[in-house]
Amino acid sequence: MLKRGGNMTEATENPFASLHYSNVYLTILALFCFKLFIKISLNCLSYFYIIRGNRKEAARISAEFYDFGQGHRSWADRSPLHDAACQGRLFALRNLLLQGHNVNVVTIDHVSPLHEACFGDHVACARALIAAGANVNITTIDGVTPLFNACSVGSVSCAEVLLENGAKPEALVFQPSPIHEASSKGSSECVETLVRWGADVDFEIPHLGTPLYTACVSQEIECVRRLLREGANVQKGIYMESPLHAAAEKDCTAIVKLLLDFGADINARNMEFQRPVEAAPPSSLTEGFLLVYEATPQPLSQLCRQRIRDCVGRDRFHLINHLPLPNTLKNYLQYR
Ligand SMILES: *[C@@H]1O[C@H](CO)[C@@H](O)[C@H](O)[C@H]1NC(C)=O
Repeated sequence: MLKRGGNMTEATENPFASLHYSNVYLTILALFCFKLFIKISLNCLSYFYIIRGNRKEAARISAEFYDFGQGHRSWADRSPLHDAACQGRLFALRNLLLQGHNVNVVTIDHVSPLHEACFGDHVACARALIAAGANVNITTIDGVTPLFNACSVGSVSCAEVLLENGAKPEALVFQPSPIHEASSKGSSECVETLVRWGADVDFEIPHLGTPLYTACVSQEIECVRRLLREGANVQKGIYMESPLHAAAEKDCTAIVKLLLDFGADINARNMEFQRPVEAAPPSSLTEGFLLVYEATPQPLSQLCRQRIRDCVGRDRFHLINHLPLPNTLKNYLQYR
């Protein structure tokens, strides 16, 4: 009886207990599923948030997912012509063109094969593409032209080929500007080429300022020298901030010296009403240099040179060579 009673208690307890435990398991399972659901939704959300409205990013992500190991710049929709131009394979490029591939084919970002050839500094490919009718003024969705790409990598030869074939040397105001790009990347030869083909040396962009200012911010002294020799206005920077302010802030004494040689105003004030000497880092070399410069009278020759250059005017600098003056003087006037 006792044994049976024990059995009975077990029998009455067991169904209850298993029911209790299965409830707990169900709850845990439900919680787990719920957490998983939240996690997946969050991932999806962040993924679409990242790529929303950003086609370039979308293209990059899709390229990463679907285009394994084909180089770092492989968009999902690149053509064989893009690949050949990017890698500078002239023979393959010519064959593709002979087979009738469209020379102006673009990716979703509107990158053309000519963009690729210029970015890779492949001048022979650029020539072949242009000969086959590539549009030299074509822009990507970001407003980048092949000329901008050439300046970005300092490819003077590509820039020359583009300009010879009618590329416009200057961008619109709110588009990436080749001369600013060349100035910030330190490609003084590209700067010279652009100016020779008619780019305005003082082309001002609201958020970047002048090319000279860009070169000072990037501390590219060769570009600063080239721009000044081409007649860039030494005072023009961005809003009230002069190139001298930028060079002083960067503590770049060599550029500060160069700007002063070209007549930069040491007393110009920026938006914070600071003079260049006040914009320089405290007790820096540049601050010391400017303090000494302020206290030293300028040589008469330097003052005369500036006066004469002002009288001649930027548009006539190239005529200085024809003045009936000794060569030493002509060179001095041209900072040679
Ligand atoms: C490129 O654009 C410039 C300025 O808009 C124009 O003068 C030139 O003819 C264009 N070049 C070609 C090849 O279309």
